[in-house]
Amino acid sequence: MILELNGICKEYNQGKITVPALQNVNFSMEEGEYVAVMGPSGSGKTTLMNLIGCLDKPTRGEFFLDGQDISKCTENEMSDIRLKKIGFVFQSFHLLPRQTALQNVEMPLNYAKIPRRERRERAFRALERVGLAERVDFRPNQLSGGQMQRVAIARAMVNNPKLLLADEPTGALDTKSGHQVMELFQKLNEEGVSVLMITHDPEIASFAKRTVTIRDGRLSEKEVSRV
Ligand SMILES: Nc1ncnc2c1ncn2[C@@H]1O[C@H](COP(=O)(O)OP(=O)(O)OP(=O)(O)O)[C@@H](O)[C@H]1O
Ligand SMILES: [Mg+2]
Repeated sequence: MILELNGICKEYNQGKITVPALQNVNFSMEEGEYVAVMGPSGSGKTTLMNLIGCLDKPTRGEFFLDGQDISKCTENEMSDIRLKKIGFVFQSFHLLPRQTALQNVEMPLNYAKIPRRERRERAFRALERVGLAERVDFRPNQLSGGQMQRVAIARAMVNNPKLLLADEPTGALDTKSGHQVMELFQKLNEEGVSVLMITHDPEIASFAKRTVTIRDGRLSEKEVSRV
């Protein structure tokens, strides 16, 4: 089991208002699964992703990632888990604008204290895998949206994480670039990476093997067949 959430609740306190963003969520994912998360705006999808990504802690409930009890982890241990086990992909790419594609992909390896030469090599190979060997020295503003997202995917995967988390990865892309991103996710999943992807688009969700839906902070399972 790569993920196991039992009775997870997340409340945000904003002044006098308490927002129950997640209510008693039970969810698990086997290693190597590919799951889509759907649900209306404000339903709690990003909140769920932030908890699973060890960026935030639940108010209540148990959460195990790769067998480790995250509720018992310190901030430092959580950032270590993020670095080693999780790759993140966002709708708006989150690339550093002044850095080249290669430097962006190298970034997680800097944190992992990998020697410079090995960093270069691994970042280059990651960019090669996403079809961008010819763009390594380009900066984000010299790349198309689809290319920027592929750089972000190379960066997410350069540490060989077990779990890929994606929040609307195709949300800012045209259909063709979106499908290229889905092909990459499929390839990574076939190589054994567990994928959890938020999307509003049923067609994009159909690339996953299982879909769950969140409404008002409550999660329900829905089995769907693959296209
Ligand atoms: N940091 C925060 N402080 C207070 N409330 C928050 C915070 N983050 C999210 N919320 C609230 O929690 C609820 C769930 O938000 P969340 O971002 O998880 O929704 P979402 O499903 O990702 O929506 P969208 O599809 O629009 O991205 C919303 O009502 C939101 O206002
Ligand atoms: Mg969101």
